[in-house]
Amino acid sequence: MFGCKQLSNKCKAWKKLTKHFKDVQKTEMKTLFKKDAQRAERYSINLDAMMLDYSKNRITDKTMAYLLELAKECKMSEKIEAMFKGEKINKTENRAVLHVALRNRENTPIYVDGKDVMPDVNAVLAKIRKFTDDVRLGKFLGYTGKKLTNIVNIGIGGSDLGPKMATEALKKYWAKDIKCYFISNIDGTACSEVLNKLNPEETLFIVCSKTFTTIETLTNAKTCRKWLVDALGEHAVSKHFVAVSTNAVEVAKFGIDTANMFEFWNFVGGRYSMWSAIGLSIALAVGMDNFEKMLDGAHEMDMHFKYTELSQNIPVILGLLSVWYNNFFNFHSTAIIPYDQYLQYLPAYLQQQIMESNGKFVTNSGELVNYCTSPIVFGGAGTDVQHSFFQLLHQGTEIVPCDIIVPAISHNEVGEHHEILLANALAQGEALMRGKSTREAYYEMCKAGKTKEEAEKLKKCKSFPGNRPTNTLIFKKIDPYALGMLIAMYEHKTFVEGIIWNINSFDQMGVELGKQMALSILPELQSNASGLGHDSSTTNLIKMIKRLRK
Ligand code: F6P
Repeated sequence: MFGCKQLSNKCKAWKKLTKHFKDVQKTEMKTLFKKDAQRAERYSINLDAMMLDYSKNRITDKTMAYLLELAKECKMSEKIEAMFKGEKINKTENRAVLHVALRNRENTPIYVDGKDVMPDVNAVLAKIRKFTDDVRLGKFLGYTGKKLTNIVNIGIGGSDLGPKMATEALKKYWAKDIKCYFISNIDGTACSEVLNKLNPEETLFIVCSKTFTTIETLTNAKTCRKWLVDALGEHAVSKHFVAVSTNAVEVAKFGIDTANMFEFWNFVGGRYSMWSAIGLSIALAVGMDNFEKMLDGAHEMDMHFKYTELSQNIPVILGLLSVWYNNFFNFHSTAIIPYDQYLQYLPAYLQQQIMESNGKFVTNSGELVNYCTSPIVFGGAGTDVQHSFFQLLHQGTEIVPCDIIVPAISHNEVGEHHEILLANALAQGEALMRGKSTREAYYEMCKAGKTKEEAEKLKKCKSFPGNRPTNTLIFKKIDPYALGMLIAMYEHKTFVEGIIWNINSFDQMGVELGKQMALSILPELQSNASGLGHDSSTTNLIKMIKRLRK
């Protein structure tokens, strides 16, 4: 862990943090709270109707000062500016990184290769508005004249997870007669289970693929196309299929009229694309006004990220804390816990956003890193997960910093449900921080009627080490605007981590090898051909599967 040579050689602040870590690693947060009545206030940031409380972290003013020094040494502000300016910061693919242009609500020009991208962005937004209005108002109808009320998004990774997460998060805003479905996995079950529920006459398929070469998406799209054509005939395709892609040639080859194609651009990474036409299913479900409110919320976070000084900058603080834990404390995972059922897909979405972005082992200058990069991300909706992995969070040997996300108001204020939910959310943060000593556990048991011997025997099992960090994010309510802020916040946090680790957060070369090898195994499964060059395990597995499938 201390072998972060590239960083420590380069950065004075890294050396200071290494030394400082030795001084504070054992410091208890509860002591820091006792000493400083203003701690919560000092380590909180408000932005519009959201608040980040990062006071339950193992930090002191010195820690924050050194982390901010590190950010400056890594040229954080310059790198943020470079992204907003459209510089080609995705160096391995020679691309600009401009998901911020998709929600640039002030419409200031942003240039890539000398061309302002905003007119194209606005034209696609206008096209999305027209199309979604027409479908929702029943002006764009299916082939047999029926209203299109089943929206099926076919895509995978960034062409699925964002739309799926956001449509679920905004379910309360769906038009009454619209239902959304998502087909991503190549497993025929995914496709069959959705198609079994649908009437082709009322179904609109959106084939989402940046490259339009992804085997899962194209195979699913072919199967859905056949299902539609079998029911309604070839002429029905143009009324029931649209595409979202950067690749018009492949869209046409697939048999979708490019007039029914919504464009986006190479400066938008797949996992950063829900703000583009990839979000078409979101706009169809919640309406374009709500979709634009989501863009507005993201834009507010963009402006905060771009213009706020580093010490008050939410994504910067979150990114630096992540580095502090990952590289100094050796805490290599993080959990995302939304206390909102509608955010149930947020952890899955963030797994791609964070791990595909920062799961890298080569620096921007082409060297192998000798420090840890992305943490492992997992999570789930509270309170469900309190009854599954929270045991480990409280008493396990791994320490997992958590983000606890809490809307003050629920979309479904039923009896006292939401207050119980809120109480649990806050209790977890407090319990993880405070813990319970063996002494406390002992006296609690005695008070509850256990004998001294019993209490003595159980006191360790019933104690909690505490000192486990959490960030708490409070929102008024998860509406489209708040969702936009939340997602943009994580996008920028990921970028901040990538800047410190000196890696490219915007390519994903690590997904290629498995894809290539699947392509070589496929013909072996489909014929008698036996491939050369596999290891004996893979060869045996192929044989066994073929025998079972005979
Ligand atoms: O998993 C790799 C990946 O390239 C992701 O980055 C992307 O989101 C996903 O596949 C889907 O790609 P496409 O939108 O090109 O089908």
